[in-house]
Amino acid sequence: MNRARTRGAIALAGAAAIATVVGLASAADAASTLGASAAEKGRYFGTAVAAYKLSDATYSGILDREFNMITPENEMKWDATEPTQGQFSYGSADQIVAHAAAHGQRMRGHALAWHSQQPSWAQNMSGTALRNAMVNHITNVATHYAGKIYAWDVVNEAFADGGNGARRDSNLQRTGNDWIEVAFRTARAADPGAKLCYNDYNTDGQNAKSNAVYAMVQDFKARGVPIDCVGFQSHINSGSPLPSDYQANLQRFANLGVDVQITELDIAGSGTAQANSYASVVKACLAVSRCTGITVWGIRDSDSWRSGDTPLLFDNNGNKKAAYNSTLDALNGSASSPPPVSSPPVSSPPVSSPPPSTGSCTATASINQWQGGFVATVRVTAGSSAINNWTVTMALPSGATVTNSWNVNRSGNSWTNVAYNGQVNAGQYTEWGFQANGTAGTLTPTCAGS
Ligand code: G3I
Repeated sequence: MNRARTRGAIALAGAAAIATVVGLASAADAASTLGASAAEKGRYFGTAVAAYKLSDATYSGILDREFNMITPENEMKWDATEPTQGQFSYGSADQIVAHAAAHGQRMRGHALAWHSQQPSWAQNMSGTALRNAMVNHITNVATHYAGKIYAWDVVNEAFADGGNGARRDSNLQRTGNDWIEVAFRTARAADPGAKLCYNDYNTDGQNAKSNAVYAMVQDFKARGVPIDCVGFQSHINSGSPLPSDYQANLQRFANLGVDVQITELDIAGSGTAQANSYASVVKACLAVSRCTGITVWGIRDSDSWRSGDTPLLFDNNGNKKAAYNSTLDALNGSASSPPPVSSPPVSSPPVSSPPPSTGSCTATASINQWQGGFVATVRVTAGSSAINNWTVTMALPSGATVTNSWNVNRSGNSWTNVAYNGQVNAGQYTEWGFQANGTAGTLTPTCAGS
């Protein structure tokens, strides 16, 4: 009896000890830095970095302790990387990339084509000269950093504010409405391994501007323009409060088949209100499986482009703010949709069994011509039977020279499928394209299927 009671007491004490140990273990499991905690949820937590601040020990100390993704705040922009036409200058950006490589951090590239922060020589350009300069710029910069960039902001802030969902007027926009897709295709050709993002502000909830971006992404996905992600800058203040449909807006973009990322988060304010808003943003991202990560636009309040708003997670001395604690707590919280299994950015159609038989096909070309150059999108449509491979024969007019192509192999006038788009089911189509200098005229492609 006594022995039994003693055994029971030991068992109870053991259970309590186990409970204590389990309690300690789960507390220890909660990550203690933003990057580690985000990583536990299959996501990243990043910050904008200025190269000239890397020698500040407080700044670098927080950077390397807390963040596992870096966006150069200004160093990869057009004015920084090509200050003189054709002369590329990568010093400050390379410094950040080297820092990231040495500390196991990944990079978001920002930004290849933007109406703002253009070098003065580009600001003064228009038409074909500007279009060609943009393509050359993207090709050079994306090639220089190929293999080192997780995601590029290929095009930044191309839509206007206000109620009509129009494109923003700019010298780039005036080269032709297709400048955005040309930018994406050029970036894909230069760095096929980087995810390619469209990035904008005041698109954080459903409104005319985000609806216009949504329509563009939907159109790009339908036509095979390479886009992998949409960045939501999320500069939040009293004029641009956190929308109540923030999560729903992220989700509707994700449903189009792109990743979504919070790319430049800062929230004006202080104390509990600011802390709660940060937690709301984190929870929204964790609830959307294709929300792959969050980047804040600077480290300390004093590092912010609008430091007077005290919008960041660390105070001027590098101390953690309430907003830091709420962000970490939200990251450590349980509500999370698992992130998608990471896949290469070049999208392939779902694997399906080979079509049962082979047949004929037709091809049509649509042209976006501007002064001195064009983009051709070619559609291959299978006839009444499926095809496993296709070859399009198409001559270009004299003087037209191809500068890049996508989703196709080319040998002279012969254009054949790549590995992932040869199989086309009866009546279905696939699209590929190329960009060229010169004048397209009327292209008359013919198709042979097998
Ligand atoms: O480096 C020069 C310095 O030599 C000079 O003395 C000083 C005088 O004004 O200017 C310094 O350059 C400034 C640069 O930031 C570096 O501090 C530029 O004038 C200033 O215009 C530039 O501002 C940047 C701004 O983009 C320009 O549009 C901000 O740092 C940067 O945070 C901000 O970031 C943008 C994103 O790229 C896109 N989304 C909005 C976001 C906030 O505006």
